[in-house]
Amino acid sequence: MCPPTYFDVGYSINPWMDPSGPVDRALAARQWSGLVDAYRSTGHRVDLLEPLAGLPDMVYAANGTTVVDGRTLAARFANSQREAEVAAHAAWHRRNGIFYGGGEVQPAVAVNEAEGDFAVLSRRILAGYGFRTTPEAHSELAMLTGREVISLELIDPRLFHLDLALAVLDDARDHIAYYPEAFSQQSRRLLSELFGDALIANEHDAYAFGLNAVSDGLHVFIPAGARQLRENLAVAGYWPISIDLSELTKGGGSVKCCTQEIRPAAIAAARPEPLNDVMSIFPDTSSPHAAGASS
Ligand code: ARG
Repeated sequence: MCPPTYFDVGYSINPWMDPSGPVDRALAARQWSGLVDAYRSTGHRVDLLEPLAGLPDMVYAANGTTVVDGRTLAARFANSQREAEVAAHAAWHRRNGIFYGGGEVQPAVAVNEAEGDFAVLSRRILAGYGFRTTPEAHSELAMLTGREVISLELIDPRLFHLDLALAVLDDARDHIAYYPEAFSQQSRRLLSELFGDALIANEHDAYAFGLNAVSDGLHVFIPAGARQLRENLAVAGYWPISIDLSELTKGGGSVKCCTQEIRPAAIAAARPEPLNDVMSIFPDTSSPHAAGASS
């Protein structure tokens, strides 16, 4: 996550951003800290990215990089105002990748706004296009991760990122919530075929950023205005935690936008494999058996 130290709405690259309106940076910082506290008090680890002056959208850390199975794809922003964020994210991942079995950052060729448009499930990845991320970027992510990537077309300019239109609630059983009207007819059909048990959000909750939620499979950190969805989550057995990020919604983002999730490499994949190699480095000379194995 990246603190909103330099948060501002000085330009407009989505329908929520009104450069003529006031921004209360101190309030933004308090609200953002509330989200960090909520994560930490439910047992999550939060690492911070140092904010940079002149990058007012950097608080939306979800857009900087995508990490799946320890593999890291850098973003390539659609708007020039955010371009410089990429280097900061890449440097962070090069420095800290060792903690999640990564470290190499693949630069992007096509435009992708990372987790803004990529929703990672147990095996597959859902990917939005239409406003920011391009279908070419979906292929790039599929190549990097070896996972199937399902493309979904977004059609509502106010819900310009997939993470404003769809939330992953439980990535172990691929349980999601979404707002059907944010998607083209064809994508809507696909979603209803693939996710028959999904929670369906209404218009009010979608525009209250209700789908811009983060879930660990139990706690769902959800923007405070999404009342119906919050109730439906509780009925479905989740533990919704309301988060008020009203100041940050002025930039067109909320909980999920502020949160980049790190998905580590599987332990087995990170462990150096053949035991034989170990034996040949440290041959057990006392056993004729081991000597044979190392030859
Ligand atoms: N002002 C930012 C932009 O337009 C908002 C980003 C919202 N982030 C998100 N993950 N949906 O790029």
